[in-house]
Amino acid sequence: MSQIWKRGTYASIARQAAAEGIVLLKNDRCTLPLRDGERVAVFGRAQFHYYKSGTGSGGSVNTDYVVGIWEALKSSGRYTLNTSLRETYDSWVEQHPFDAGQGWASEPWYQEEMPVSEEIVRRAAEESDVALVILGRTAGEDQDNRNEPGSFLLTEIEEDMLRKVCSSFSRIAVLLNVGNIVDMRWVQEYDPSAVLYVWQGGQEGGNAVLDVLSGDINPSGHLPDTIARGIDSYPSTPNFGSRTENIQAEDIYVGYRYFETFRPDLVLYPFGFGLSYTEFRLGSTSFSVDAPVSFSLGIPVTNSGSTAGKQVLQVYGSAPQGALGKPARVLLAFAKTKLLAPGESQILSFDIPLSLLASYDDCGKTGFHSAWVLEAGEYRIFFGMDVRNVSLAGRFLLAENVLVTQCEEAMAPVKAFERLRPVPAGMDYKAGWEPVPLRTVSQEDKRIQNLPTCLPYIGDQGWKLKDVADGTVGMGTFLSQLSDRDLCTMVRGEGMCSPKVTPGIAGAFGGVSDSLREFGIPVGGCSDGPSGIRMDCGTHAFSLPNGTCLASSFNEELNEELFAWEGLELRRHRIDCLLGPGMNIHRNPLNGRNFEYFSEDPLLSGRMAAAQLRGLHRYGVTGVIKHFCANTQETLRHHMNSVISERALREIYLRGFELAVLEGHARAVMSTYGPVNGLWTSGNYDLLTVILRNEWGFDGVVMTDWWAMANDWAGAPGSYQNVSAQVRAQNDLNMVNADAGANSNGDDLDSALAEGRLTRAELVRNATNICRFLLTLPVWPHSLGLESDLDRELAESLSQEDLAAQNVVSLTAAEAAAGIDASLIRAVRGESTMLAITTPRRGKFSLEMEARAVNQPPMAQLPFSVFLNRDLAGSVTLTGTDTDWKSVSVIIGPTYHTNFFLKIFFAQSGLELRNIRLVMTEDKEEEIRDILEAIRATDRGNGDPF
Ligand code: BGC
Repeated sequence: MSQIWKRGTYASIARQAAAEGIVLLKNDRCTLPLRDGERVAVFGRAQFHYYKSGTGSGGSVNTDYVVGIWEALKSSGRYTLNTSLRETYDSWVEQHPFDAGQGWASEPWYQEEMPVSEEIVRRAAEESDVALVILGRTAGEDQDNRNEPGSFLLTEIEEDMLRKVCSSFSRIAVLLNVGNIVDMRWVQEYDPSAVLYVWQGGQEGGNAVLDVLSGDINPSGHLPDTIARGIDSYPSTPNFGSRTENIQAEDIYVGYRYFETFRPDLVLYPFGFGLSYTEFRLGSTSFSVDAPVSFSLGIPVTNSGSTAGKQVLQVYGSAPQGALGKPARVLLAFAKTKLLAPGESQILSFDIPLSLLASYDDCGKTGFHSAWVLEAGEYRIFFGMDVRNVSLAGRFLLAENVLVTQCEEAMAPVKAFERLRPVPAGMDYKAGWEPVPLRTVSQEDKRIQNLPTCLPYIGDQGWKLKDVADGTVGMGTFLSQLSDRDLCTMVRGEGMCSPKVTPGIAGAFGGVSDSLREFGIPVGGCSDGPSGIRMDCGTHAFSLPNGTCLASSFNEELNEELFAWEGLELRRHRIDCLLGPGMNIHRNPLNGRNFEYFSEDPLLSGRMAAAQLRGLHRYGVTGVIKHFCANTQETLRHHMNSVISERALREIYLRGFELAVLEGHARAVMSTYGPVNGLWTSGNYDLLTVILRNEWGFDGVVMTDWWAMANDWAGAPGSYQNVSAQVRAQNDLNMVNADAGANSNGDDLDSALAEGRLTRAELVRNATNICRFLLTLPVWPHSLGLESDLDRELAESLSQEDLAAQNVVSLTAAEAAAGIDASLIRAVRGESTMLAITTPRRGKFSLEMEARAVNQPPMAQLPFSVFLNRDLAGSVTLTGTDTDWKSVSVIIGPTYHTNFFLKIFFAQSGLELRNIRLVMTEDKEEEIRDILEAIRATDRGNGDPF
């Protein structure tokens, strides 16, 4: 047995992480933990379908199993579950099956709920001690939540269920199996005795819920977002959901920064809030300041209750209002205790750089322009168990404004608007408005002034990338051998499901053409992410808790540990990077993708991402932090323009990414689909060169999101073909192309070079980034035939299914039509063969062959199945009497991708095949293109609707 690959340990760490993310908001009338042997009635159809994650790229993991809440409770054997209630649900669900939708990201985010009668509830209450009510929601890419029943609001049937259950039972725990906060006004209205956000906890999620309900794990999750009275309480709501442009007038006052400064009265549950089954006491604090550099504090945390538990301590700072205006509180640090036994204490110590309290001056009011500044005045440091309930740890004065970091104007808005800021009102502050500073410097001028240079093209001299790694030649010299055409190919990534990398993953990059591979440039592979490996050919992987759940754990160590396992799993599948963590800010609760992201707070987001990256890096793989930056809405995400001040960008939307780069040593970044201040991020020189590389020192690669546009100047229309703008900005990889060498997307690189809109040196610079990145990845030693002990050990742990996925036979459609060598197909019981097909034209195919039984008893059943990617295309069964060659066929498709996989699985040995051919029966290329164009025009879908 493998010493390193331990599925059970992986599962138990994921279970622990999901449990530590569960946030207990209310626990009255001794509702929880449940006592062993109690009689439990479970309401809500989500007991039949636990949402392990949201939908889309962040949720498409094919798992071995998903443990739901009901299954976990049942298999624990610790409770008497009300079976008559369950039977009522059973028969209703049979009539109202789960609606999975059809196609890409089309699963409804809410499933119809069973109406419950007074009678059902009364009977259940008579028969049970406690009620659990499970409410579920999913969400995903391409669309947002709505302030409507079934989305952010509860439906009438859900409310009716709560009303009835709460009036019949005394102990009711409501479990929210959601990816994102939902409206919570019903808590006051119906007064359930306990409420928990159990989030979407991945495939071990139901077990995690059991752990918390039973008290085996004491809840220690805290809210990563403020829960306010309603959607209108959030300052971003008036400027969310536009189909053209969102003016982010709330500026830096996102989440608790707004509520604590202006409207504490609107908060139902503050940021950082979360209860435990035990009590904690915070002791007297030690505090010392080394101004203007850092300060330290130590806080003893004692478990003063009667059960063991963990607590999260949060440190907040409040800077003087100064000339810029400041939020009342800003999270500066957090830490989680170890498991403290009753009576046990732990001192949590923090050394915090003062720079975390600096503000970004984008208007020059402090005397410093485009700079991080600590304004003169009094600074106060607080600590507590949520943002609202804090104690003063200490204070200090800065006599004058201190320049922390001088930057340069970058990404400033071009559109004038007024932004929120506090203005004094008596002892307090009220909302005021000020004009936002506008762009004064052109990105194009900066680019022209800083154009790179390169050696002239010298043709193939026989140097390979290995010669660079060995120090024989420099990277510049090596790349001078590549033609312009090779360089253009190199900046195009390939996918989805490129046959050049692990089957079914999202992208391939680097040596994507024969000519590039001649130079010894390997092909790296990346897969979605973030909550587990997505392999569209059906290979199974482990499904992790979602980002919001993991952030709620406030546990960096646990996140690191979990992602070390994820890293090992990537290695096992020979994948170099995960497309994640997703780390955009929860600007508004309606964002459809919040589940993949961490929090409304950039420090929490950045620290979580850094921890996950450290975990991945333990095994040499890495994460592609996404989406850079300010992807806070899904509606019209390819087009919608975010209008944001430089200050809000720096302090809120870029800060988390900066931490991931500086503390997590991020090596790969994915830009967003849409524009910020008029410029698509994938072609944004300020974002990708000035800030990311020049200021933060990032030296890895940047890739676009899958099929992303770019434009040349603020206000210019975006185009999918404008890849030259991406290259100029130092977005190294345009993802994804069906055939990079043939320029299948018809991009503008050739013409841009010919017309001087792009220089060869810019291509060389990006190719350098790509090659350097490849040299850091596992694919590099693998491409040289070097296998480490880890590789060997992981290889031994592979299942038949995993092995099939690693033994792929790649064929063009023309080759497959001419005839597939039958000896490549392993017609052996329990084995599969994977054929990776690349076709220039999409449509319907037929897999035709002749088959016969060999040496089988007449009654033998000899089935084999053919899967198109992860879906069964058809099965064929011969019997032992079929000893003569027999023509059989399976219909394939239509296939909507130019790359697809056919997996042929044999349930029995005893068959022989010959004359195998894949023939196109219906050419649907034009039809499919039209569908894609139509989808792109309405922006429903990421360009890959299938
Ligand atoms: C998503 C990305 C994802 C990519 C590849 C896009 O639709 O926005 O987050 O990584 O697809 O699946």
